[in-house]
Amino acid sequence: MKGIVLAGGNGSRLYPITQAVSKQLLPVYDKPMVYYPLSVLMLAGIRDILIISSPPDLPNFRKLLGDGSHLGLSFSYAEQPAPNGLAEAILIGADFIGDDPVALVLGDNIFYGQGFSRRLQEEVTTVTGCTLFGYPVNDPGRYGVGELDDAGRLVSIEEKPERPRSNKAITGLYFYDNSVVDIARSLEPSRRGELEITDVNRTYLELGTARLVDLGRGFAWLDTGTHDSLLDAAQFVQVLEHRTGVRIACIEEIALRMGFIDADQCLELGRGLATSGYGDYVMSIARQFAVSG
Ligand code: G1P
Repeated sequence: MKGIVLAGGNGSRLYPITQAVSKQLLPVYDKPMVYYPLSVLMLAGIRDILIISSPPDLPNFRKLLGDGSHLGLSFSYAEQPAPNGLAEAILIGADFIGDDPVALVLGDNIFYGQGFSRRLQEEVTTVTGCTLFGYPVNDPGRYGVGELDDAGRLVSIEEKPERPRSNKAITGLYFYDNSVVDIARSLEPSRRGELEITDVNRTYLELGTARLVDLGRGFAWLDTGTHDSLLDAAQFVQVLEHRTGVRIACIEEIALRMGFIDADQCLELGRGLATSGYGDYVMSIARQFAVSG
């Protein structure tokens, strides 16, 4: 399966912070925001990843992430010249996707929870149609909303409804089979003039091949769209990392644990980040791993 991280948009809800810097490069506590969605794709076992951003921001993503080989990954880059909607990522990435299924993740979504990687890996192997991930929130009207019937089947999908039919927000992680390319090509722009991801998902729903996996409570899905939610996310990460001593979404550690790189390579990556606590952490993980395997 291929992976796409969509890190476009103008981040206007975070102005003036995002006037000169891409939202998805802002820090969420100890690492750039884009590390969080990137780590989701890595945990799913996806190694071939396209990063899409606006023309002025793309060079900064390249500077941060390179070609991915240091992480045992392959990164490609593509421009989204204007924020024409999330579904445009599929059109921009059509050649990259080729004949494969694809996971699309939004560059500002943060997922955290026990057993998440196992769940992702199961879903990756079984994707037919589209797999969406739902999460209960107290303000569903801010998101795509999915409604399930008593048997757990997805029966409706609405984008930012005034009167939500459920509290299940549809998170910014989408697994699609290869028909997503044709579906995206057939889309008409919405009233906002954008190619909406919700319209892609609704097409799958009409075809009877859309599923919603409920992430449920006991899981954290965080959003970084406003000044407050950005700070909340950073504090959430800080509290957990301080308490447990384990860093969330440390891409070097994930590359090591997933077997994409070995302990020596991980140690080198840590050295390159030395003088930061993050670099020290990467080195200590590499040393522990070398001893215990
Ligand atoms: C987008 C999608 C929405 C989804 C959300 C998840 O909204 O349109 O369906 O629930 O991402 O982050 P946006 O954040 O672009 O308003």
